[in-house]
Amino acid sequence: MISNAEYARRRKKLMRRIGPDAMALIPSAPSRVQSRDVHWPYRQDSDFLYLTGFPEPEAVAMLLPGHPDGEFVMFCKPRNPAFEQWEGAIAGPEGACDHYGADAAYPIEKLDDMVLTLLRERQTLCYALGQDGEFDGQVARWIDQLRLRSRAGHNPPEECRLLDRDLHEMRLFKSRSEIALMRKASAIVTDAHCRAMATARPGRYEYELEAELLYETQRHDMRFAYSSIVASGHNACTLHYSENSRRTEEGDLVLIDSGGMFAGYASDITRTWPVSGQFTPAQREIYELVLEAQQAAIRRCAPGNTWDDLHRAATRVLTRGLVHLGVLKGRWQTLWKEEAYKPFFMHGTSHWLGMDVHDVGEYRINGKWRMLEPGMVTTVEPGLYFMPGLRGVPKRFRGIGIRIEDDVAVTRSGPDVLSAGLPADPDEICRLVGAATR
Ligand code: GLY
Ligand code: MN
Ligand code: MN
Repeated sequence: MISNAEYARRRKKLMRRIGPDAMALIPSAPSRVQSRDVHWPYRQDSDFLYLTGFPEPEAVAMLLPGHPDGEFVMFCKPRNPAFEQWEGAIAGPEGACDHYGADAAYPIEKLDDMVLTLLRERQTLCYALGQDGEFDGQVARWIDQLRLRSRAGHNPPEECRLLDRDLHEMRLFKSRSEIALMRKASAIVTDAHCRAMATARPGRYEYELEAELLYETQRHDMRFAYSSIVASGHNACTLHYSENSRRTEEGDLVLIDSGGMFAGYASDITRTWPVSGQFTPAQREIYELVLEAQQAAIRRCAPGNTWDDLHRAATRVLTRGLVHLGVLKGRWQTLWKEEAYKPFFMHGTSHWLGMDVHDVGEYRINGKWRMLEPGMVTTVEPGLYFMPGLRGVPKRFRGIGIRIEDDVAVTRSGPDVLSAGLPADPDEICRLVGAATR
């Protein structure tokens, strides 16, 4: 878990970045209705959680660097026994101070008045405009209200600044405790993938395999980080397939892309394996090529390389291999420059990973791909997809979709594969598949 001291360090660091004349406002995520009076499971906003650890909706964190009455002010739902009888205990302003390190805390109803009083002392308002339309409107109204009171000397801030830049740059670099949580998120999901493989046999439905993933994930107090993709046969060629409704058949490959959230941190892992426990020669050729591309990209997850080097390494290997397999014809170097691999590998090789699956953080700085640095965590997930109807591709490859995805922390000494516990070697995978059904 993240300690209160770490949350406090994050807030201090952000306050140093935004400067002494600023106010930062960070709203919690709204609760969302699924249908009528049924709500989706609540998911806290990652920025808010990163700075406060506070799990409830209807809360706003305010940072006031250098303010003599307290730099971290929380507005949240007040305690209410009748409400809590139905919905469970809430922290209330007292809890926000006692358990979450707020210097002062008030019922959320006081926000309107207090923002206007506190904002007129500040020159800069820092806020992640554009993420929450309703709150955007409220912020705009506060600014307008101050503007209208200018004759009384209440000027609006001189500057409004997007908070994302500073905050997301901080979130991109994971601390030791964050890496430990992400390693755990990877380890549990590794077990979930292993369970799905071990319990697989031709004839099981995709949703049955999804249920195995869910069992292993949820029994460790984790939830899926996104809708799991359990794609058998040519469903694997549909990148965001998540119907998970087909019956697997002898000879199918199964692509599972499943990740979980542990204590607010995500894993994102993909493996592809033959449901009968044996690759066909064509499946194995493609599998080995994707694996080689992935390993080449993982080796580049080290300081001194740029983020784009991962994609370049993966696509070089894939292009060379596609020429070798007769899918592409010509000089591989020319084909690589022309991105001739794109009909078969149409997504990126990597994305940042953290509190969000597609995590925050810039990929380019001043127009150039950024350098990898210790503390960054990225996925490495090349794939090859040959839709069944694809023309000009050797017939034996059609209908094959393969992706291999691992989570990698960049360290001073090179890549640290957080999901290394899950085999990717084709022989090891084949030994795992169906192991629990034999
Ligand atoms: N599961 C989403 C992704 O791999 O990016
Ligand atoms: Mn991914
Ligand atoms: Mn994924």
